[in-house]
Amino acid sequence: MKIFIDTANLDEIKQAAEMGILDGVTTNPSLVSKEGHKDFRSMLEKIVAIVDGDISAEVVSTTCNEMVNEGRELAKIHENIVVKVPLIAEGLKAVKIFSAEGIRTNVTLCFSASQAILAAKAGAYIISPFVGRLDDISQNGMELISQIVQIYDNYDYQTQILVASVRHPIHFVEGAMMGADISTMPFKVIEQLVKHPLTDIGLNKFLDDWKKLNG
Ligand code: E4P
Repeated sequence: MKIFIDTANLDEIKQAAEMGILDGVTTNPSLVSKEGHKDFRSMLEKIVAIVDGDISAEVVSTTCNEMVNEGRELAKIHENIVVKVPLIAEGLKAVKIFSAEGIRTNVTLCFSASQAILAAKAGAYIISPFVGRLDDISQNGMELISQIVQIYDNYDYQTQILVASVRHPIHFVEGAMMGADISTMPFKVIEQLVKHPLTDIGLNKFLDDWKKLNG
């Protein structure tokens, strides 16, 4: 399973990359705004220099023509840029055009299996179902992942399933067990994946015992 970091914070991206487990980055307009990156292009150039993997950059227009123009410019920045497109009818039209041009897309804001089927049919490279936001409204987000995995398998759709809006390590592990291709998560969750109290207790004991032996 590929691990992406869901942030526009360059320090967090560097730290996760240094851990040696990072396969890509997802950003969205809210994350970019939170970090105050007024120059989107320059931010993306910095990210592609840190991580050699898929970097999702989202369009901020809502008509097919505008999305296509925006996406083409984003795709020119670097071959690793994946154009992130919202799952609306205009977005699907744009995905079809991008797919014919060989521009890879991440179809975002997916909240249902029917939406995921349409994205795959339009030629999405990645589909991003938002599990945490479904959990927030008392719907089981991981159930949606399980449905999409089965449907894509039934029809051999090549679109990669990215578990998005991950809030904790259980989302990550369940996604891996279901066979999702990618999980994207905030840096805090990546840190949580590493930690286990028994690892810390065990390591302290080993080091104490070693000290006793050697004085
Ligand atoms: C995915 O690409 C999105 O940026 C992200 O996972 C949204 O997560 P949130 O629901 O925590 O904002």
